[in-house]
Amino acid sequence: MIELKNISKTFGETQAVKNISFSVKKGETLVLLGTSGCGKTTTLKMINRLIEPENGEIFINGENIKTIQEEKLRLGIGYVLQNHGLFPHFTIAQNIAIVPKLLKWDNDKINKRTNELLEKLHLPLQIKEKYPNQLSGGQQQRVGLARALMANPPILLMDEPLGALDPITRNQIRQEFLTLDELLNKTIVMVTHDVEEAFELGDRICLMNEGEILQMGYPNELLTRPKNQLVSNFLEGHKLKLSLKTVSLISLWDFFPNHKSENLESLNAESFTVWSALDILQDKKTIHLNFKGEQKNLDAIGLVSALEKYKQNGTE
Ligand SMILES: Nc1ncnc2c1ncn2[C@@H]1O[C@H](COP(=O)(O)OP(=O)(O)OP(=O)(O)O)[C@@H](O)[C@H]1O
Ligand SMILES: [Mg+2]
Repeated sequence: MIELKNISKTFGETQAVKNISFSVKKGETLVLLGTSGCGKTTTLKMINRLIEPENGEIFINGENIKTIQEEKLRLGIGYVLQNHGLFPHFTIAQNIAIVPKLLKWDNDKINKRTNELLEKLHLPLQIKEKYPNQLSGGQQQRVGLARALMANPPILLMDEPLGALDPITRNQIRQEFLTLDELLNKTIVMVTHDVEEAFELGDRICLMNEGEILQMGYPNELLTRPKNQLVSNFLEGHKLKLSLKTVSLISLWDFFPNHKSENLESLNAESFTVWSALDILQDKKTIHLNFKGEQKNLDAIGLVSALEKYKQNGTE
């Protein structure tokens, strides 16, 4: 779907991106992860030609993007800018309507689609007549996303979409991201420097450092098979939490004690990771689970001891 081949970009003395190649599959979310200045934004902006690479080529659906007219290219690619990038002197409605106006939609269609997205993103309709600085940071970020989604582009580029938010709001919007139908079938390249966010939202992760790719792979691969010490160091400190997030509850199923539930309402074990189950167990003493017709009760001690056994068995 999106393919970068040997892409480089230099600004004066700074080699921002050094000969990188990767591809993103249709419908996949690829996260560009790395510390400040490692070249994430530059990489993203080359995909919609806001920056032209010096070397290398980029293809979208097999077509070299140099051969596609810039405006046409950008109409098919939603772009959420770092720090939302809303125009301060435009109202929210005007900000959101920029692409639809270029597409010559009539006002009725623009209005309907605006309302639909504001509703999906939990934004009150009254904000339409307000200006960006009259909104909270979280609301501005959501408007930035709404703007990018208006014309339902198949590709979405998001640069630190949750960047300026406090951890609680960030976590909340992250959960919404995971369930938002508008994002489900899109091919997404998302930038973040937040390791947990990358692991939660990315189907695959491209870890960058000083303009180069350190490692690209599935979250679990980076955790369990880091290519070198730099990758390992980058993830250090997040390892325990991330490994609990990547281990699914069903992979421990056989190690759970065999209690029979007494017809209590049970949760599908397939929808949990060890981490999310622990989260629930903070509030509840026991959770009732089902998996393939079997039912089990689980408490925190049972979960921890199953995890121990699982690790001893070296299943993963
Ligand atoms: N227009 C520019 N002119 C000069 N140098 C630039 C320009 N844009 C980026 N750079 C430099 O290129 C490098 C990569 O910048 P880039 O914005 O891609 O980093 P980033 O990974 O997005 O960082 P951050 O997480 O801080 O947003 C940095 O050293 C930056 O200073
Ligand atoms: Mg950046």
